[in-house]
Amino acid sequence: MKQNPQIFSNSLSYKKNGLLYFDDISCSDLAKSYGTPLYCYSANEIRNNLEIFKKSISPFQSSIFFAVKSNFNPLVLNMFAKEGIGADVVSKGEIEMALMCGIKPENIVFSGVGKSEEDLLFAIKKKILQINVESYEEIEDILKIQQKYKTKLNISLRVNPDVDANTHKKISTGKFEDKFGIPITRIGKIFEKFNNNYFKINGLAVHIGSQITNVKPFDVAFKKLRDLTINLKSSGHKIEKLDLGGGIGIVYSGNKTIDFNEYQKVINKHFIDLDVKLLFEPGRSLVGSAGILISKIIRVKKGEKNNFLIIDTGMNDLIRPSMYDAYHEILSAKKIENGKKVFYNIVGPICETGDTFGKKRKIQILRKGDYVVICSVGAYGSSMSSYYNCRVPANEIFIDKKKVFQTKKMLHPRDLYLKV
Ligand code: LLP
Repeated sequence: MKQNPQIFSNSLSYKKNGLLYFDDISCSDLAKSYGTPLYCYSANEIRNNLEIFKKSISPFQSSIFFAVKSNFNPLVLNMFAKEGIGADVVSKGEIEMALMCGIKPENIVFSGVGKSEEDLLFAIKKKILQINVESYEEIEDILKIQQKYKTKLNISLRVNPDVDANTHKKISTGKFEDKFGIPITRIGKIFEKFNNNYFKINGLAVHIGSQITNVKPFDVAFKKLRDLTINLKSSGHKIEKLDLGGGIGIVYSGNKTIDFNEYQKVINKHFIDLDVKLLFEPGRSLVGSAGILISKIIRVKKGEKNNFLIIDTGMNDLIRPSMYDAYHEILSAKKIENGKKVFYNIVGPICETGDTFGKKRKIQILRKGDYVVICSVGAYGSSMSSYYNCRVPANEIFIDKKKVFQTKKMLHPRDLYLKV
């Protein structure tokens, strides 16, 4: 089994006939059978990623809660449910989705800076495992609800440790200027003020960002969390759980990322002697490499400066390149051995210049009707999709042991609205 997720994941490879296969099915065949644009997920790849993650945290008393925001495909969630994995959610909708897919309430952790009173009430009534509170003001809202319902509730405080995760600025969450978490300097006071029978603060949580490719920021943040935990314990507070968040980066294209052995070492260094249960909320590292997006070339357009491959998927299906300048490998579904390679700008049909998947990509000569495969889109791909330009979002299939499961109702935007 591979140690780190690679772009050419276990599930994606060219065979001798030149065709690109995803879980032993040719991408061209998948495109012909299910239409394009088409998201495909590999159960096998997710299982491999999960095994690697589990192994890295195996020395610790710990549980995993999959970050539903990264991929809420029902078969993906159901697979995690069957593996005994919980859910990290950020809205009432995500709680409902997790429950629908078989994840038990006692396996759900609720994070997020803007939980509405409706969200909180729903979570409390469902008796989920814990709420990761992100502000003093949120506690006040929870207390109001608690006074009415008087149910027991486990609270962890999400700590903002003021650590730079060294990732894209739009996905950094652990600095004081970010909106997330309670500043580490204010945690002690909150413990003093709010602890009673119905309202039990018994843990701390930290999540400093996503696509973190170096272990150093984790080391710095975990050290701060350790010191805080020791201080609180010595003041008589019970800290039973530490939620260490997600954030481990994956390989999108030859980039280096965190080695799981190093991740284990850092956790070991800071928490092995603390007698606390550890919670983890990975998203990308479990599903990122397990998804591809197959798209058909609508036309090849010659320009004055560039040649454009105009494909039938747009930023409404995959917003990462336009939003974060994210690099995703793009492959031809059929490789021509020793074929001439040229440069293309690979773009979608949407009326925005940002609707670009790759600039100056060197790839074999392609024609109208050929298929291309955008790699490593299992995380924050479909889950961030929209109806922009009144486009029907991409279809989605889930492949498990060579069996293909169709998972999506293809809703046209006109079906979202009441008839006028
Ligand atoms: N826990 C919390 C509280 C989070 O906010 C996140 C992600 C995770 C866990 C999971 O992080 P992961 O293991 O997936 O890195 N849309 C962006 C990523 C946003 C991440 C938001 N929070 C992207 O496409 O890169």
